Amino acid sequence: MSFTLTIDGSVTESRANERLVDLINQVGAKVPQVCYHPQLGPIQTCDTCMVEVDGRLVRACATKVSSGMNVSTKSAKAVAAQREAFDRILGNHMLYCTVCDNNNGNCTVHNTTKLMAVEHQKIPFRTKPYEVDNSNPFYRYDPDQCILCGRCVEACQNVEVNETLSIRWEDPHPRVLWDGGKPIGESSCVSCGHCVNVCPCNALMEKSMVGKAGFLTALPKNALEGMIDIVKGVEPDTGYGAILKVSEAESAMRESRIRRTKTVCTYCGVGCSFDVWTKDRQILKIEPQDGPTNGISTCIKGKFGWDFVNSSDRLTKPLIRDGGKFREASWDEALGLVARRLAEIKARSGPDSLAFISSSKCTNEESYLMQKLARAVIGTNNMDNCSRYCQAPATMGLFRTVGYGGDSGSIKDIENASLVIIVGSNTAEAHPVLATRVKRAHKLRGQKLIVSDLRKHEMAERADLFIHPKPGTDLVWISAITRYILDNGLAHTAFLEKWVNGLEEYKKSLAPFTMEFAAETCGLSLETLKQVAQMITEAEGVCVLWAMGVTQHSMGSDTSTAISNLLLVTGNYMRTGTGAYPLRGHNNVQGASDHGAMPNYLPGYQLVDDPEVRTRFEAGWKVTLPSTKGLDNKEMIEAIHSGKLKAMYLFGEEISLVDSNKNFVEEGLSKLDFFVAQDIFFSDTCRFADVVLPASPSLEKEGTFTSTERRIQRLYQVFEPLEGSRPDWRIIHEIANRLGANWNFKHPSEIYAEIASLTPLFAGATYERLEGYKSLQWPVAADGADQPLLYTKRFNFPDGKARLFPLTYSQPTDQVNEEFDLHLNNGRMLEHFHEGNLTYRSPGISEQTPDVFVEVSPALATERGIKTGAWVQLVSRYGKVRVRALVTDRVEGKELYMPMNSSESPVNRLTSSFADKVTHTPAYKEASVRLLVLGENGDSPLPRGNPRFGHRTPQRGVEVERKWQRPDYRVPGSPMVFHATKSKPNGNGG
Ligand code: SF4
Ligand code: SF4
Ligand code: SF4
Ligand code: FES
Repeated sequence: MSFTLTIDGSVTESRANERLVDLINQVGAKVPQVCYHPQLGPIQTCDTCMVEVDGRLVRACATKVSSGMNVSTKSAKAVAAQREAFDRILGNHMLYCTVCDNNNGNCTVHNTTKLMAVEHQKIPFRTKPYEVDNSNPFYRYDPDQCILCGRCVEACQNVEVNETLSIRWEDPHPRVLWDGGKPIGESSCVSCGHCVNVCPCNALMEKSMVGKAGFLTALPKNALEGMIDIVKGVEPDTGYGAILKVSEAESAMRESRIRRTKTVCTYCGVGCSFDVWTKDRQILKIEPQDGPTNGISTCIKGKFGWDFVNSSDRLTKPLIRDGGKFREASWDEALGLVARRLAEIKARSGPDSLAFISSSKCTNEESYLMQKLARAVIGTNNMDNCSRYCQAPATMGLFRTVGYGGDSGSIKDIENASLVIIVGSNTAEAHPVLATRVKRAHKLRGQKLIVSDLRKHEMAERADLFIHPKPGTDLVWISAITRYILDNGLAHTAFLEKWVNGLEEYKKSLAPFTMEFAAETCGLSLETLKQVAQMITEAEGVCVLWAMGVTQHSMGSDTSTAISNLLLVTGNYMRTGTGAYPLRGHNNVQGASDHGAMPNYLPGYQLVDDPEVRTRFEAGWKVTLPSTKGLDNKEMIEAIHSGKLKAMYLFGEEISLVDSNKNFVEEGLSKLDFFVAQDIFFSDTCRFADVVLPASPSLEKEGTFTSTERRIQRLYQVFEPLEGSRPDWRIIHEIANRLGANWNFKHPSEIYAEIASLTPLFAGATYERLEGYKSLQWPVAADGADQPLLYTKRFNFPDGKARLFPLTYSQPTDQVNEEFDLHLNNGRMLEHFHEGNLTYRSPGISEQTPDVFVEVSPALATERGIKTGAWVQLVSRYGKVRVRALVTDRVEGKELYMPMNSSESPVNRLTSSFADKVTHTPAYKEASVRLLVLGENGDSPLPRGNPRFGHRTPQRGVEVERKWQRPDYRVPGSPMVFHATKSKPNGNGG
């Protein structure tokens, strides 16, 4: 409902629930607002936004507009209150802008000083009795510069929800506290950077900025202090106006050398986007602001994990294997050799003796070119990407039931759910920013959370209900609950009648899945199972999130299907707050599959054996295309062993570490006649190559990534490719042309135009529509309309109806027995991405998490006499590794967990070649081992400074009411001490 009100004498229109501060900003009135951040909401700590509403002073940030309001932002009373509030802030912050690394045009304190034309401060600056805290590897806190706005606390408590920060308002000299008063480096801080991202001044700052951003800020400490003293000395005479002019001139000079370039995170599939601040080749900082997925959010990797880009061991010369050793070669020689050998092998053994593996770290355009090289130039569908290792089963489950292999909605839709169920996903560590949205909704909005996992990780600890089924049995409890819901008349019958086919046949298939069978098979109580069913049926909207704890099983596709079946039976599709969300692992694993890096699909999931599809691509590419499905990753390794596959070209994929049964994979790769590996580092996989080609990471190229939300986003070139390296798309392009392709793409935008012209799913996706921070969530119609919520009018089947898919259960593979008596689980950890090729090159990350380990339960540790730090050997049916133990109650009984971040002791030496029957995704999570205690004790594999040893201090936010209760607090502009409650000074309240 809209209405009018008056601001400074002008009538303006507004709507109910709008914040007054937002309306004031919209109409262009200039009101200070130091603590206000639209993404944090009103914090109400600074009092600088005081305005008069109908004669009363209120905080504009905490006031909702109402019809007929008369607002004055410039009345004497308002201005005096604003000024008084800002004076208090300057009492906590020394203005030394010219020699401050935060003097970059976006400092809120500086800009407010200027806005308010402050010449002299009434409350003198006073230092606080605390030292600067430098104990975190990535950022530092300077209490003397801290204005106590509490933005950082609000971000940590209520956006990131790591709950590390607080301000003890009752202290004589309040400051920001980590875990209630620990050094940052000994606290629960996970270095996500949220606090630094929102700090309105230089109190919290990335260490990579300190001494680097300004022209004068690198001066030695005593010289800097001398300059600060000079500035303070002249202030009484000249006033701040003149001083600010000097600092603004210096700030303007910085613009000539500091660049800010938008990029999209290269790590996980959440799809965070941000500006990269650079000076020459130095990365000064990562600044997230308005990314469509992440807003102000990042995790440790996206915020601080970029050292690898300028690492001294980047590959900069092609390498050719020569007499058992690698020698450096020119690009011309290396590319000539690649083209010649690929052509020879094709001529000798046929196109299907070659295989191609695309990278889910690289761009959509690069995956598209790779599959075009395989299909149009070589003539084979032997083309795959690492979604085979993780996501293919989830995609299959969704193809079977709802028709598209993508998340049903956006992260916002997950936030809107009244119940979130997480199955087999350590979301807070593997998809950290997405997890923050669940944690936030759970903490602030009462969203319910069920977690099913083997480990008691952070999400499990936060859950309303944590269940721990026996390994590999998720399909059973999910199907049993679905049957229970149907049997007890709790299904959403109207939804089923209107939107779903196959109910009767599906019901029959559920016959074995009684609650009793589930209780027995999964090791869960009947009460627990019924409680899950009840929570689902009582919820207004349910979203299910799952990841590799589901997909990397021999029944991965079927369990994913069971999840979607459950959602259909309960009507949890087709609206916000509902749906299926398989969480994509790599930044562009969704995009690699979307763009045809699969053995059975051309781009946009168009089947290679569909004549109409092939005809369209053949006309576009002017070639004849192969019509039979090619080999997937698993089949490729088997085909090398059987002698059918002779050559492989792979880029940006660490197959020898991340494929299961490493010994078998290594043996296969070493049998290839010719192997080309393209990467930014000499990876483990490169050891088996005949030619190694040096590529460029995401910051050195343009293109697009597609995140787990099906969100296509552009990345822009931050740096020139490191000398000697080349962007992957240019390398693939050159190889294709040396093989006679005659391609002529000058820029990735031209590649995307070709993709859109041949692929209905992306028909309207253009670089213009993706400019800057704009994004599109596929499918994108020709007119540019996209679909944030995937199913609104129909499911993706010819009749528009979803399909229930009958399932049966079979036992997991590689089960424990007397000889291999322990179940081994594995997965990611927060700080490292996957095997750690990129993240180990960040000294800060390596300091916090230097090595891999195996988590051992307290019970097993007692039984076997294992202490944290003890070296153990794990032996499976396929191999063995030596690793240190970490005793933790995150794991239970005879279940072990190993993160995958190691090339020395990789968990895949232990995993088998068993795989999901439908998609061939390895059953990584079905592994059994025996454990030998080696009798040597080392240090804990996780240093004491690791945040896992910290103690969070949860609270509802900055708790400004406690500040208002201080005896020395007075609402600015009020005549006397006023012990306020949260709503009192704000007119119609917060
Ligand atoms: S977890 Fe650490 S880095 Fe993240 S917001 Fe909290 S204090 Fe800041
Ligand atoms: S450190 Fe926190 S409280 Fe201090 S100025 Fe920065 S955001 Fe505000
Ligand atoms: S959550 Fe994922 S995309 Fe976002 S910053 Fe972290 S690693 Fe990058
Ligand atoms: S902006 Fe700080 S109290 Fe409103």
